[in-house]
Amino acid sequence: MENRPQWGTRAGFILAAAGSAIGLGNIWRFPATAYENGGGAFFLPYLFALLTAGIPLLIMEFTIGHKYRGSAPLSFARLNRKTEWLGWWQVAISFIISVYYAAIIAWAMSYSVFSLNLKWGSDTEGFLFGDYLKLAEVPGQTGSLVPGVFIPLILVWIITLGVLFKGIKKGIEIANKIFLPTLIVLFLIIVIRALTLDGAVEGLNAFFKPDWNAIASGKVWVAAYGQIFFSLSIAFAIMVTYSSYLPKKSDITNNAFITGFGNSAFELLAGIGVFSVLGFMAVQQGVNVDEVVTGGVGLAFVVFPQIINEFPAFNQFFGFLFFGSLVLAGLSSLISIVETFVAGVQDKFNVSRTKAVVVGGGLSAVISVLFATQGGLYFLDVADYFINNFGVALAGLIEVIVVAWVLKELKNLQEHANSVSDIMLGAWWKICLAFVTPVVLGYMMFDNIRTNIS
Ligand code: PFF
Ligand code: NA
Repeated sequence: MENRPQWGTRAGFILAAAGSAIGLGNIWRFPATAYENGGGAFFLPYLFALLTAGIPLLIMEFTIGHKYRGSAPLSFARLNRKTEWLGWWQVAISFIISVYYAAIIAWAMSYSVFSLNLKWGSDTEGFLFGDYLKLAEVPGQTGSLVPGVFIPLILVWIITLGVLFKGIKKGIEIANKIFLPTLIVLFLIIVIRALTLDGAVEGLNAFFKPDWNAIASGKVWVAAYGQIFFSLSIAFAIMVTYSSYLPKKSDITNNAFITGFGNSAFELLAGIGVFSVLGFMAVQQGVNVDEVVTGGVGLAFVVFPQIINEFPAFNQFFGFLFFGSLVLAGLSSLISIVETFVAGVQDKFNVSRTKAVVVGGGLSAVISVLFATQGGLYFLDVADYFINNFGVALAGLIEVIVVAWVLKELKNLQEHANSVSDIMLGAWWKICLAFVTPVVLGYMMFDNIRTNIS
């Protein structure tokens, strides 16, 4: 406990936390989610969710990590002997995410190389599924590796595990100090170019046009809270782990606000960029923006290559910037997820960081290699769905109920946070965590179960 490694600087911690938060969720999940849930009107429930649940929970997780100075399992065990399992559960979710997250980053890596000669051609969907992700046709054996996916995946793991071997200050902190600023610069270049494309205005109009009726629907509020939880990497053991490396004298509340608003700022930026290029594509094809809106894998690996094909100039360059951004955003998130189980194993079994990285990271790496092809795409759908709908909502719900109601620890945590922070937490913080968040998460669970049954 006493020799726990520490971040070198405050900025190092903030960049690492923001690096974890800013990921594929900002780039390919937020824009379509906002569009489908009221467009401009979505910002109201979204902001509400950020302030009543996202940031309060972030503060709570930062406080738990800082106060108990352990990986999620160890911190929850120190909070109360009986709650260690909560930490392991969150670590397990992170482990599952790491498997497919790594594969997606590998695809983005391949695509940044493909963009150099627009290798995907005009049938981008056929290229993705038929060429790039196709299963090798070995008789009697499906799911064999395609070398094209295999090589970048190994590279992803070399970088990730390499960073983790180096530890907190020399590894994770330095990586994020390089990745995050680079990502922001690359992304700004893309967004500025996107804004000046023919059709950008149409895209932005579609994105920001408020459908005020939408916010009367519970589904829209569920979407807003869901986006905030996923986007801030809450209830994944990450923020507890990262804050366990904070020096004793560290501001908690302020750091949480910076992380939360920074993540949302990037989300807004991504929304503007994505809808500008979607507007451009719609105008090119003479269709309504409505007809080209997508998110997820389809947006990044099918629609985006098409858009890049149609770019007026420097197609290769912008393709490379876009996929390079995905790689950087993804890597800093992947590093944070893998660190949760590296730290968990290290604390639990008292082994060196090196051993924990080899065992924990190695296991995830091996599994991800098995899922790197089309089988992985299927796995991704199932895992993503399951994690978004049950993992986060359920793990988050149990987390707040245990802390606020079973252990009644909110007051102690509040005192701890206030003893080190500039901003003082008042009653609103406890109200958000004890009432608002459990009600919303409970409703999300209920809603998921209901729509799954029907
Ligand atoms: N917060 C990341 C994003 O918005 O893309 C996604 C994420 C990363 C979620 C890592 C969960 C996780 F464990
Ligand atoms: Na995010």
